[in-house]
Amino acid sequence: MRETKVTADDLIQPLFVLDGEGRSEPVPSMPGIQRLSIDLLIAEAQTIHQLGIPAVAIFPVTPADAKSADAREAYNPTGIAQRAVRAIKDAIPELGVITDVALDPFTSHGQDGLIDETGYVLNDETVEVLVRQALSHAEAGADVVAPSDMMDGRVGAIRNALEAHNYRNVRILSYTAKYASHYYGPFRDAVGSAGNLDSGPSGPGKDSYQMDPANSDEAIHEAALDIQEGADMFMVKPGLPYLDIIRRIKQELGVPTFAYQVSGEYSMLKAAGERGWLDERKCVLEALTSLRRAGADAILTYHARAAADWLQEED
Ligand code: PBG
Repeated sequence: MRETKVTADDLIQPLFVLDGEGRSEPVPSMPGIQRLSIDLLIAEAQTIHQLGIPAVAIFPVTPADAKSADAREAYNPTGIAQRAVRAIKDAIPELGVITDVALDPFTSHGQDGLIDETGYVLNDETVEVLVRQALSHAEAGADVVAPSDMMDGRVGAIRNALEAHNYRNVRILSYTAKYASHYYGPFRDAVGSAGNLDSGPSGPGKDSYQMDPANSDEAIHEAALDIQEGADMFMVKPGLPYLDIIRRIKQELGVPTFAYQVSGEYSMLKAAGERGWLDERKCVLEALTSLRRAGADAILTYHARAAADWLQEED
């Protein structure tokens, strides 16, 4: 009688990667999550692959001295993200690799785009850099590029550039409905963009380009634009507080719809679990089931590896 089932095949594991060798740094606000150097990342990716998780999403941690106002490290062919993609595709070609296309790990101010002297994020100038970044990921062997920046017109620009450079099979997972959410806090700690954002010229917010949590119709407009521009997959982010948005996009547009159970959602479940206030395992599996029930075809979750383990035990 059960309508919805969660399997490892529905999950995608986000991974934080840093420079060096044999390095594993815990993320303090995300207990159980580490930033890993590429050698350790490969071992982790092997385990994830063996558990039946079809893909990983790579998020680089950029050293402060490689950040700049023009974010040029974003398209460095030997940047951390580009090297990580190559290493994973060499070691485990069957494992899907998704890259994050956005400038926040590379800008000295922590915004997802280039800014003018008043701190205003410049849409079209940013899109040019995003295109170069996406091409460098495709060149490194990424299966899917995922623009998470919310600039207007970036999906179309990336699609055209991929076609023009013969990367016709690289897919675009667009962060279609990315809300200006406060649930991203621990992620900003993990990639080291939070401090910069707080002291940056435009203040802490990304409200001028991410969506207002009070809006729902806007998500449908964004998705319609993304369809027109050539996106293959559509992300709603965060997850659990936005089940209605997942449902609307899936039902009204009938496109492959992904949910991102974000860092803050992970940390809440983890913290309550550690205190014995909630049963972490049961609550995580319930949340993932809810995301699937709402209409998510796939779920990015920091709990992917743990959940795949638990699902195996239950089988
Ligand atoms: C930024 C980006 C963010 C996340 C993924 N890509 C954070 C932000 O917009 O500041 C958040 C993911 C999470 O919280 O788990 N390009």
